[in-house]
Amino acid sequence: MSGPSWPTLPVLPDPATDAVLASGLIEELSYAFGGPFHFLLPDAFDTNLRAMREALDEAGVDGFVYYAKKANKAAVWIERCAASGAGVDVASVGELREALGHGVRGENLVVTGPAKGTDLLRLALRHGALIAVDALDELDTLITTAMTGTARPARLLLRCLPPSQPHSRFGMNHAELTTAMGRCVRAGDAVRMEGFSFHLSGYAIQPRADLAGHLVDLCLKARVLGLEASRISIGGGLAISYTDADSWHTFLSEQNSGHYHAGKSFSTADFYPYHSPAAGAGALRALLAAHPEGRGLSLAELLKDSGVALLMEPGRALLDRAGATVFRIQGVKDRDGYQLLTVDGTSLSLSEQWFNSEYLPDPHLLSQSADAPAGAWPASIGAATCLESDMLTWRKIPLPRRPRTGDLLVYPNTAGYQMDSNESPFHDLALPPKVVIDHTERARPRWRLDRHFT
Ligand SMILES: Cc1ncc(COP(=O)(O)O)c(C=O)c1O
Repeated sequence: MSGPSWPTLPVLPDPATDAVLASGLIEELSYAFGGPFHFLLPDAFDTNLRAMREALDEAGVDGFVYYAKKANKAAVWIERCAASGAGVDVASVGELREALGHGVRGENLVVTGPAKGTDLLRLALRHGALIAVDALDELDTLITTAMTGTARPARLLLRCLPPSQPHSRFGMNHAELTTAMGRCVRAGDAVRMEGFSFHLSGYAIQPRADLAGHLVDLCLKARVLGLEASRISIGGGLAISYTDADSWHTFLSEQNSGHYHAGKSFSTADFYPYHSPAAGAGALRALLAAHPEGRGLSLAELLKDSGVALLMEPGRALLDRAGATVFRIQGVKDRDGYQLLTVDGTSLSLSEQWFNSEYLPDPHLLSQSADAPAGAWPASIGAATCLESDMLTWRKIPLPRRPRTGDLLVYPNTAGYQMDSNESPFHDLALPPKVVIDHTERARPRWRLDRHFT
């Protein structure tokens, strides 16, 4: 098919995913499950974790990585954290139970999230988890619970409302933090006040370095009051790159509403930054090298000089290239100049649509017919539901061969937030199972089902 050119967003090379796609396993699993499924590549998780630890070691900074569980529910990540001594960031009783049940010790958990219920606080206390306290009333509940119910002190961080994001609903402002420190002092042995935390929206490095520098200052002030204050948590927000810089900038400059089904348009500001100059462990390196505002020292030097450890809670960055999502095409309609495909799942398995945006990396087409014509076959991808707006991809993706019913579409790099944060059994459709692929380097990859409890 000839005609206009269509914007593309090719993913970065990923030999592990390519090996799975070439193995024939995907077709077999799609047949076996009879619906969409996700596959997970835990070796990539290990690689990402190792790279972050190396960045800390290179900078000589004492640090600890907690996997932000909200980014993907699978048990395999927790199993990997347990095996490698990493921590887990949980925000509900269910997440805490999963983390403990799959082998992570209570001391290696950090409990985040706003206004935590007493059931969650009590469990966290009993298991010696670190608790990021978000508000003064929560601190009061925690202190009371620690004084009455448990033999262990409450290990806590005080969460700071970022001055650069004053409308955030998370964290405490300066006056509240001062009050909170006073209450920690008065609580005596019931509390072990270990430091401060924040989570910033967005992915910029410098604002993180600035706020981390501010938290180090707060630690020094807290120590004067007799509190331990020996660590800060910078939350998550290490960006990842799905594509290269050229492809990303070309995509942004070329795309317009004519490239989407039904003339749909998205604000480019709402797209995830699919390329970042500093990504994953590289973003952590850049952060450690950055000079917090008004300092002659890098963040790494500041942390070392003040004896403050750096905690972090990456979700997406630990899951980079650690999974993909497979759908089968179950219908093809010809529209004016493009095709409208319907797949056997929903956009609930590709969360970006639910944030007024679109998951842009090009899916791979696994064509099942040897005679399907090659070329550029633009196609938009709809879901198997009755909702007009349930589109996995509004964009007309130029597929390399003519798509046909029975072909498979593999959305790459979906483990971080795309797969399961919004999934529901809408229409009584089964939730897509998760397949763990343990050894991608074998001629025939080995697989098993993930062991998530619920
Ligand atoms: C407190 C906290 N920590 C960690 C994260 C994980 O962020 P990311 O997946 O961008 O690393 C989040 C995300 O919202 C968060 O709110």
